[in-house]
Amino acid sequence: MQMTQRWIRWPAGTHNRTPTEGRNGPIAFGGDYNPEQWSEDVWQDDVRLMQEAGVNLVTVGVFSWARLQPTPDTWEFEWLDRVLDLLHEHGIAVDLATATASPPAWLTTAHPEMLPVDRLGTVLHQGGRQAWSPSSVVYREHSLRLVEKMAERYASHPALSMWHVSNELGCHNGRCYSELSAQGFRRWLRERYTDLDTFNRAWATDFWSQHYGTWEEIEPPRIAPSFSNPTQQLDFARFSSDALRDQLRAEVEVLRRHTPDVPITTNFMVMGHFKEVDYGTWVDDLDLVSNDHYMMAHDPEAHVELAFSADHTRGLAGGQPWMLLESSTSAVSWQPVNTAKPVSQLRRNSLTHVARGADAVCFFQWRASAAGAEKYHSAMLPHAGTDSGLWRSVVELGADLQRLAEVSGSTVDSSVAIIVDYENWWAAELDAHPSSLLAYRQTAEGWYRSLWDANIPVDIVPRGADLTGYRVVLAPMLYLVRDADVAALDSFTRAGGQVLVTYFSGIADENDHIRLGGYPGAFRDLLGVRSDEFRPLLGEQQVALEGASLGALTGTLWSEPVVPTDAIVLATYTDGPSAGFAAITRAARGEGKAWYVSTELDAIGRRAVVDAVCAAARVTAPIGATAGVEVVVRRSADVEYVFAINHTPQEGSVAAAGTDLLTGQVRPAPVLIPAGGVVVLRRPQ
Ligand code: GAL
Repeated sequence: MQMTQRWIRWPAGTHNRTPTEGRNGPIAFGGDYNPEQWSEDVWQDDVRLMQEAGVNLVTVGVFSWARLQPTPDTWEFEWLDRVLDLLHEHGIAVDLATATASPPAWLTTAHPEMLPVDRLGTVLHQGGRQAWSPSSVVYREHSLRLVEKMAERYASHPALSMWHVSNELGCHNGRCYSELSAQGFRRWLRERYTDLDTFNRAWATDFWSQHYGTWEEIEPPRIAPSFSNPTQQLDFARFSSDALRDQLRAEVEVLRRHTPDVPITTNFMVMGHFKEVDYGTWVDDLDLVSNDHYMMAHDPEAHVELAFSADHTRGLAGGQPWMLLESSTSAVSWQPVNTAKPVSQLRRNSLTHVARGADAVCFFQWRASAAGAEKYHSAMLPHAGTDSGLWRSVVELGADLQRLAEVSGSTVDSSVAIIVDYENWWAAELDAHPSSLLAYRQTAEGWYRSLWDANIPVDIVPRGADLTGYRVVLAPMLYLVRDADVAALDSFTRAGGQVLVTYFSGIADENDHIRLGGYPGAFRDLLGVRSDEFRPLLGEQQVALEGASLGALTGTLWSEPVVPTDAIVLATYTDGPSAGFAAITRAARGEGKAWYVSTELDAIGRRAVVDAVCAAARVTAPIGATAGVEVVVRRSADVEYVFAINHTPQEGSVAAAGTDLLTGQVRPAPVLIPAGGVVVLRRPQ
């Protein structure tokens, strides 16, 4: 990953600056601002209240296309000029969207062929948002015309601080099965495989009489009578991610031509379920990485998923600070029950993102909509107005972020990396596998949770990331691997690293063909083990494991009759289909060790293994704290910032001393943290 970061261009006179801010200026604080939903007298109120809350950056124009270009040949920019001028007069910088996210009705009416189509062949019509196929040339031309106009008009506007391409590319149209997409898919395949023989071999089309004699016969994996060809499904996922990236690149090209100095981002969706885009292949096209993150109300440990997503975003940003461009102040409007956040949660969640590298805390949206599909979504300024608990919390958060300004630009150090890879997410969860119960992100998150519980900092990195400098690398369910991926883990281990690989790893090559000769395929040599079949477990089934140092453990989902070739056995299955075989092993390789875990361990088992691996690598939590207190350290040249976030309903403590940036007090160790509270300590390195 080569991304060279360029940060927000803060205009002179930006509101909310402090004398002590860090390398990236103030911490950006604000949200999506949709003034077109309100009359102009409300805008005056908006900017006044933005100042009151300490807002210094807003994202404008995300869904403005229909207002900016009401007919194919008319443009109405004057209202947006007034919005930008007003924001600038009040010292509020603008993250200007290219406005291409949602095409106007005149365009989809004139060109219904540009609408996206789902796998069942259903056309997804105008009336919601993102009604466009990433493969539509008509959409591309019209959207670029708009970007060109935006760039020309606002290139030298003093409020313009960064560009925001589209919005959550792929959020609703990530997989389009239309005829236009079929054509795009064929072009993509021709480029990838050049000739039909290579292509037929890659797709293994001798299976089920699927041989293709011409490129025109190939289709996206539309609903078929049986399972679709797995390589077809995998390539379609790759193609779909690339098709969206083409739109990103096309918009970026226009923006760079007009404003080479203005940084460009697009808001990622690194969170829970979203797997449509291989973000690791997008970051080089951007100047800075930003993310949108929302919490799932049903998850009692959603704050750990939040930490995982934040660390994953930082990993995509190559360890550099990143922007939280959207989150919610309280309830969202798209879950079955949209629970409100308890008062202290807004602060905890926001400061966790900052602790994990965000130099921006922004929300969807500034003012809660009075109408439309998201009118029940929380905002910075709720329907109730300023006489509300939520508004007061927002104002307090703005003040907290001003007190933390010096943190901006500092970074997080970790000795542990977890490889999380979208291509593997797609491939590991394809249908017709030994078990449909395997869940790629959940498995990775499970290992992350064990490290989170131990307060050990983790980088979540994409495939191909440089592993130098880490002492431990976890590769959960790294199902599909290229030879280079295996070689990288091998060298990492031999140079003294501890690598931990889990079940269903190394199984397939990049075309999803099995690596023959026994499991875990490409990792047999590195791990020093071999098994001759998979023995997955039924939904409720559990198996018992026993190990001299690890004790009694429980496995679910998977088991294998693992036979060590030259690894030592750390735990053995004592019941279930693989009883008597090795379950957890460790092989010595050069200066390091390669660990294999052949089942899904529960939290206790994972923690036992994580503790053993970290002990072998001499990795410990940098700072002690009471249970349920999350501790993360950000560092700059000569100071470090200790964030301690108490997720429990009792008072907790952290074994550190320093100046509490949120209160200004100098505090000796241990520092007490109120129930649900946050403390940020500055101390010399
Ligand atoms: C995001 C989107 C925003 C808003 C938000 C609601 O996916 O970018 O425009 O819809 O969700 O949670």
